Amino acid sequence: MSFRIQPQPVARPNRCQLFGPGSNTKLFQKMADSAADVINLDLEDSVAPDDKPQARANVIQAIGDIDWGSKTLSVRINGLDTPYWYRDVVDLLEQSGDRLDQIMIPKVGCAADVYAVDALVTAIEAARGRDRKVSFEVIIESAAGLSHVEEIAAASPRLQAMSLGAADFAASMGMQTTGIGGTQENYYMLHGGARHFSDPWHWAQTAIVAACRTHGVLPVDGPFGDFSDDDGYRAQARRSATLGMVGKWAIHPKQIALANEVFTPSDEAVAEAREILAAMEAAKKSGSGATVYKGRLVDIASIKQAEVIVRQSEMIAG
Ligand code: COA
Ligand code: MG
Repeated sequence: MSFRIQPQPVARPNRCQLFGPGSNTKLFQKMADSAADVINLDLEDSVAPDDKPQARANVIQAIGDIDWGSKTLSVRINGLDTPYWYRDVVDLLEQSGDRLDQIMIPKVGCAADVYAVDALVTAIEAARGRDRKVSFEVIIESAAGLSHVEEIAAASPRLQAMSLGAADFAASMGMQTTGIGGTQENYYMLHGGARHFSDPWHWAQTAIVAACRTHGVLPVDGPFGDFSDDDGYRAQARRSATLGMVGKWAIHPKQIALANEVFTPSDEAVAEAREILAAMEAAKKSGSGATVYKGRLVDIASIKQAEVIVRQSEMIAG
């Protein structure tokens, strides 16, 4: 173990982040009534250029007017390569109430991108006497973003979460696909004449999880475009959960239950984790650092693995 202790991310559920365009006010109340842990009101790519000012005004109004309950309320601003982002930040921070929890910065390419938004937000908060500090989340969705993922994860104490944005990422990497996440037809190994599909998102996800875990940030899987494919969504989400991600986006309400199902540890998984902890407690009492549970080795590392599951389950329940 390094001398430096791995920091814990913020303790709040982030199983599902539900998106809706800031230009579509009809969706806002439905989003608030949903079972998503995080709401992302979008000012970026689901809003047409001509609609940006109106969407901004809608979102500012909705932050104050709608009862968002205990959800984390986040607004996705426009990227730093656009003429819109500074106005997004200024209007949001100057005009919206304290209910705004978080700003999502898309297409982050380096730590300085986060620094720039932090400087602007910090100045407005001080000028306006906003006592509740807004937190950040970022999307890694470019070659530069993934190349600089570790410095981005360390860029600001405001940073709470980091998502992989599969579509923009694929485009930036020059990947030959128009799919948003999931299995890609041409990404396979041949064995005995049969195709075995590999996961083209695996490396990006793992890099994001490692950067996030190093710096106490929540790693999140982004969108799955085909919202008629429940099994495809589940399979993608299960892979993400296995790799250490804590949640996934929903771009349609029918994906919310799927995300909550996958990212809530099952009763069986929690029961087994507790049994492992009990077995290790008994082993410790008899002076042993390892023991056998259901025919397999468990040791001191197993305690930490089991604690991840129990902690996640308790945090969600609480
Ligand atoms: N949040 C809450 N409710 C939503 C919703 C969302 N994101 N998307 C759709 N709904 C509601 C609809 O209003 C409809 O409600 P009703 O039964 O009361 O009429 C119901 O869910 C079924 O919607 P459906 O007809 O299947 O979808 P649609 O054609 O209205 O919308 C999309 C499809 C993809 C355009 C829409 O889901 C959407 O805008 N998603 C978010 C896109 C986004 O934010 N992208 C940026 C991040 S990648
Ligand atoms: Mg994007």
